Amino acid sequence: MEVRWIKLGSVTSTNSYISELIKQGKAGEGLVVIADYQEAGRGQGANRWQSRKGENLLMSTLLFPAFLSASRQFHISRMASLAICDTMDPLGLDPRIKWPNDILIRQEKIAGILIEHGITGKNISHTIIGIGMNLNQSDFPEFPVNATSLALEKGFTREPLLVAEDLLKHLMARYIQLKEGRSELLEQEYLERLFRIHRPASFRAKGKTFNGVIRGVNDYGELLVEQGDQTVSYGFQEIELTLEG
Ligand code: BTN
Repeated sequence: MEVRWIKLGSVTSTNSYISELIKQGKAGEGLVVIADYQEAGRGQGANRWQSRKGENLLMSTLLFPAFLSASRQFHISRMASLAICDTMDPLGLDPRIKWPNDILIRQEKIAGILIEHGITGKNISHTIIGIGMNLNQSDFPEFPVNATSLALEKGFTREPLLVAEDLLKHLMARYIQLKEGRSELLEQEYLERLFRIHRPASFRAKGKTFNGVIRGVNDYGELLVEQGDQTVSYGFQEIELTLEG
């Protein structure tokens, strides 16, 4: 795959920028957009992604995973989460993945992923993988959840572009594993990194709070929670893992 980098000073959102290029027929697989600043950086749901100019990594990558059915779109999110962990390990960080794809250090968010697909028939025609990683920013007054960064954790900084190059390398390596059908390996590594797996945790679903134990994630990306003598599967946005406790 041929990689094409677009490096921007300021943009509304790197994900939106790629969407626009797709509409204009100007975007191919392997397009990578990075920016110093996003005027309207988007997070999951209604959240904004706040990041001070030039301090952090803001990157979106376009892939065409036509081999993947829409029902298995979680596989993209899983491999992107692992690529972020691959990038953080050599920096001395020990990231955990909070289902489905928040990247945490202890209980604080260091990176987030916003994936947007285009579906044709039953398959995924394109996917925009947007990644924000907190590197050099040392306070997060506007962040919707507790956040941390490389600088706060390790006391040193890294040039965002260098980290972006590294991240892309890992993303491509994980994408090759996915294409080659090495799902078992990806699943195993994802579960090894999964925040709170096999430990009692507190959840909220359908307005109720309850205790349970995460036992895994199925092929469709649903969280498997053991509750008493049964294991229940929950889709994205059907359950929340409450961080306290
Ligand atoms: C989350 O809420 O956890 C997802 C955050 C995703 C942020 C990244 S930054 C680069 C890309 N462009 C956006 O507008 N969002 C993603």
